[in-house]
Amino acid sequence: FSLKQYNTFHFDVKTKYFSAPQNTNQLTELINDNIVDKADILILGGGSNILFSKDYQGLIIKPAIDYIKILDSTPHKVWVEVGAGVEWDAFVHWAVSNNYFGIENLSLIPGTIGACPVQNIGAYGVEVKDVITHVNGIFLDSGNPFSLKNKDCNFSYRNSIFKNEHKGNVIITSVCFELSKNEDFHVNYGDVKAKVEELGGLSLTNIRKAIIEIRESKLPDHNLFGNVGSFFKNPIIEKTLSENIQQKYPDAPIYTVSDTHVKIAAGWMIDKCNWKGKSIGDAAVHEKQALVLINKTGKANGEDILKLASEIENSVLEKFGISIEKEVNII
Ligand code: EPU
Repeated sequence: FSLKQYNTFHFDVKTKYFSAPQNTNQLTELINDNIVDKADILILGGGSNILFSKDYQGLIIKPAIDYIKILDSTPHKVWVEVGAGVEWDAFVHWAVSNNYFGIENLSLIPGTIGACPVQNIGAYGVEVKDVITHVNGIFLDSGNPFSLKNKDCNFSYRNSIFKNEHKGNVIITSVCFELSKNEDFHVNYGDVKAKVEELGGLSLTNIRKAIIEIRESKLPDHNLFGNVGSFFKNPIIEKTLSENIQQKYPDAPIYTVSDTHVKIAAGWMIDKCNWKGKSIGDAAVHEKQALVLINKTGKANGEDILKLASEIENSVLEKFGISIEKEVNII
């Protein structure tokens, strides 16, 4: 079964088995069938944060559980449960259309609801952990269902319990959110405010429009150039190290995370190492955002992208003394 349409790098890799169950019963049956060892099951969302370095020899499950259900509502808030197979941006569109606040800054992020808590997707000053109340699913080893409260998901920057203790052992079937019916705008990141003004002023729909325009101007369409968005994480480094960098580059994009640590934009460092627009064979660095690696010719494979990534890691380490970590999952 070809995964070409199921990974946004559009690598032409194959999997031995593939299934897209539409509800939890089908999913449970599938797991109990024991087609392969539990260890050889891989759960796939939108395929927008994964790099297949070779063919997959096991079973790939892509949950196709598709519903948006209002659980409860008060004059100020609404609680919603969303199936794992719903496209993330379809949910954002739904929320904005219904005048619910909280996720408009996360417009146009590729991927599915089931994947959103795994790496705690975030953009323009908002992270999905800010609106999640529960994550529901099934443990692969025991087949038992679980419902984890937000605080038990150990969310942090691009991280959660699903990338650590529970890695490889959970299938997320739905996520519950708390959205607000009251205006609560977050427009202080980068050029969001300016773009919103340009569109006619502060409103829920204008924020969504602004974010979509900003993203489309920087991030390549994966149908034209296969990519997974940010390929690397923005590293968290000691403040003292960042002060040295700031002396040389007063405009370095550095954000405070604690008294002792800061986050520095990896894209900026890669750019400063002159990688923007450069390619090695079929793999390239996007010309408008150096944090994004692309399948430039459509013929690149995982090895090509990984080779480019490792050259980039070396040059950033050499120039800034900072190790950058991949954000993408490598299979
Ligand atoms: N910059 C450069 N050159 C570049 C890229 C960036 O100088 O080639 C500078 C920018 O000018 C800016 C700073 O670096 O001053 C940060 O850039 P940007 O606002 O584009 O965001 P980012 O740090 O590169 C992060 C997320 C994105 C998210 C944006 C907006 C990570 C790993 N990436 O990127 O998330 O959309 O912020 O919030 O945290 C993703 O995860 O796939 C993703 C796209």
